[in-house]
Amino acid sequence: MTIFVLIIVFILFLFLIIFNLFHWFGIYAFIKGSPFVPTSSDWCNKILKEANLIKGKIFLEMGSGDGRLLRLANLRYGVKCIGLEINPVLIIYSRIITKFSHLNNISYIIKDFFKYDLSSCDYVYVYLLPKTIAKLTPKFIKECKHGTIIISHRFTIPFSPDKLIKVITVNDSNTYYYRL
Ligand SMILES: C[S@@+](CC[C@H](N)C(=O)[O-])C[C@H]1O[C@@H](n2cnc3c(N)ncnc32)[C@H](O)[C@@H]1O
Repeated sequence: MTIFVLIIVFILFLFLIIFNLFHWFGIYAFIKGSPFVPTSSDWCNKILKEANLIKGKIFLEMGSGDGRLLRLANLRYGVKCIGLEINPVLIIYSRIITKFSHLNNISYIIKDFFKYDLSSCDYVYVYLLPKTIAKLTPKFIKECKHGTIIISHRFTIPFSPDKLIKVITVNDSNTYYYRL
């Protein structure tokens, strides 16, 4: 009986620590770029379908959250996925779910996306605050190779208008596709 109570107390304690870490890293992520607000699963399906992804190409998500979009992209379209995320709790969660889903070719990296070189990417997905997108725009222009597709959910990227190739709308919000 005592052991049972101890186990329950230990599990609650562990849960509290994880919850606290998630919370504090969430505040840190907000300061560094954007809070964690996931793209809904319905949207993920639609966004990926409209991207015409080519198998084997590199798909990078800046701020990969719980990794749902990358898992879907890898499973359905066979792209090689890289997720950059500043919140380690989300990275651990993403890795565990990916492992249980038996998916290969997805790497989740704990990194500030401002410090990652984008030159190898074929597709880049962002769902970030406009002020963060504005700060990232010169980096996209400088580092991404010619032809890279940048997909931005909800917010536009201040590229020249000729870079915009598609806009899709669902439930009054837009996703923007750019080709560099
Ligand atoms: C709006 S959420 C989007 C999550 C995911 N992309 C999705 O669509 O479901 C933004 C994510 O970016 C992460 N983030 C914010 N600033 C970051 C930074 N400087 N470097 C890496 N990740 C960051 C947050 O932790 C959060 O998970």
